[in-house]
Amino acid sequence: MCGIAAYLGSEQAYPLLTSALSKLEYRGYDSAGVALIDGNGDIHLNKTINKVASLSENSSKASIKSTVGIAHTRWATHGAPTVPNAHPHVNNDKNIAVVHNGIIENFAELKAQLQKQGYEFVSETDSEVIPHLIAQQMKEGLDFESAFASLNRLLRGSQAIVAVLASEEPMICALRTGYAGGLAVFPDHNGGTITSDLSAILPFLKGTDVQVGVAFLEPHEIVTISAKGISYRDENGNVIKKDLVKMSLSDNVVEKKGYDHYMLKEIMEQSDSVLAATRELIDFSSLHFKSDNLSVLSGSSFDRVLMIGCGTSLNACSVAQTYFEELANLPTEIYSSSEFRYKKKFVNDKTLVIAVGQSGETADTLSAMSEIKALGARLVTVCNTPGSQADQLAEESYFMNCGVEVGVASTKTFISSLSILYALAIYLGSNVGYLSETAVRDKIADMLSLPDVIAETLKDADSFKEIAHHINFSNNFLFLGRGINYPIAIEGALKLKEISYIHAEGYAAGEMKHGPIALIDESLVTVAIATQDMLYDKMVSNVKEVKARNGLVVALVNESDDSLDSDADYLIKVPAVSPYLAPIINVIPLQFLSYYIASARGCDIDQPRNLAKSVTVE
Ligand code: M6R
Repeated sequence: MCGIAAYLGSEQAYPLLTSALSKLEYRGYDSAGVALIDGNGDIHLNKTINKVASLSENSSKASIKSTVGIAHTRWATHGAPTVPNAHPHVNNDKNIAVVHNGIIENFAELKAQLQKQGYEFVSETDSEVIPHLIAQQMKEGLDFESAFASLNRLLRGSQAIVAVLASEEPMICALRTGYAGGLAVFPDHNGGTITSDLSAILPFLKGTDVQVGVAFLEPHEIVTISAKGISYRDENGNVIKKDLVKMSLSDNVVEKKGYDHYMLKEIMEQSDSVLAATRELIDFSSLHFKSDNLSVLSGSSFDRVLMIGCGTSLNACSVAQTYFEELANLPTEIYSSSEFRYKKKFVNDKTLVIAVGQSGETADTLSAMSEIKALGARLVTVCNTPGSQADQLAEESYFMNCGVEVGVASTKTFISSLSILYALAIYLGSNVGYLSETAVRDKIADMLSLPDVIAETLKDADSFKEIAHHINFSNNFLFLGRGINYPIAIEGALKLKEISYIHAEGYAAGEMKHGPIALIDESLVTVAIATQDMLYDKMVSNVKEVKARNGLVVALVNESDDSLDSDADYLIKVPAVSPYLAPIINVIPLQFLSYYIASARGCDIDQPRNLAKSVTVE
């Protein structure tokens, strides 16, 4: 969740590192800091509990001559967001500075041992044990690089760590011990850069070149950057050679393009999402699949599908459960990655496992993926980040191709995930002969018409804003849906709670009378998803039950439907599409409602409190 950047080269480090932090801020933003090493080998720290911009503005540190430094954006785990808890952390002699992402599971015992030996701590963080441990190992005779390498043995848990030795010949070492966040190394002839996120490399590039060669650290590998160059070691200390992977960073160049928030911009970009996400899988001119890009699915037969993800990605899996069951005729299970990790697993080489995650860096999903892989299941991923750890773990990756999503609330990546999962289900269904050629072509044709329908729905933003204006008084929302739209109710509630801090629940409408109906009064807003499908009549009955108890109802219905006109307090009308694609359309007004309610309440929409874009700790 934290963001990391480190640089050793020939340019002034401070502006480069602070602009790298501004790219990383979406990962965690409760505090930030930079450590610079000057020409005398002294460390200069600058930390803030304000936004990263405050590091760049009016800072006396900007004038320090330094071409070496490390930087961090924090998402608090141990200790509140305060300046002492902000990274970088230093040892007592102030010649080692460290930034850290992840959780040190044995930090309490390490801290107690170090305190006994006289090491003094100034923060409540687990991370602060690291500079002291390195110092302790150096005191026992190890050089900096070997002392750093001993962290592999001393620390328990999943971490990404970068440390800098302040001396007249400074040296930066970095290590990852698990799935707490990847580290990419970008060498240049005067040194190199290490970042936890490819987008943070952009400030270090010269000119407009967005093609770069980067090395990704594998767990327990160590990279060292000094004036002598870059070297890599494995966990046994052997020097290894790392290949550079060619990456295009053009998708990482993101701007707000005149919108007030990234979230609004990302909602408005959604008409392009469906085809962008599936263009590598489907040839839309011939309405045929591109089997070469679907080798895991084409080369094997499966007896079940298992999908894992977290948050919005998990909601996409829940919608897609219907796709795989009904279009590919395969028993399908879905699990939250965090739950799946700790349950008994029944997977084998006949199980198709699909891990969904926009970032490809969610720690729970990565950990579940690596266990699944070890059990021999066929593992693919739907993600938005080429080069991410999920991409590296999976046998085959299906990329969303929708550009970086900066707003913490996932919007366009949800639609992209659904589009890919829909395509995969159709492909499997056609492979096993469950879907006829005509059915396949019809379903692909439905997808082709979707961008226009999405664009039409987006045009109604003002009417969604108007409804938001009438209901933003309420502190309690119930989202109801059935069947394939039940996960959309959950997604609508998730969007609202995360950016507006309003209590919201997503419920299966049929479950309402088993408890939640007790909540209904004129102050509870019920958003009922009642577009036409086989469960429509039942949704209409549920709406009437809420109205009979004086509840306030916002009904989401199809344009041609007037049967709830006299029951609902507010109507959201959306174009009709195939029931399988309805979730893609229905989620859009719910995204807008959340956005405009949060905006009316003055919330920090792109960076809501307590959250981070990539959840790289368990
Ligand atoms: O990167 P991932 O899709 O794996 O992230 C999973 C969740 O953390 C994410 O979807 C989260 O729930 C969003 N903030 C929801 O808007």
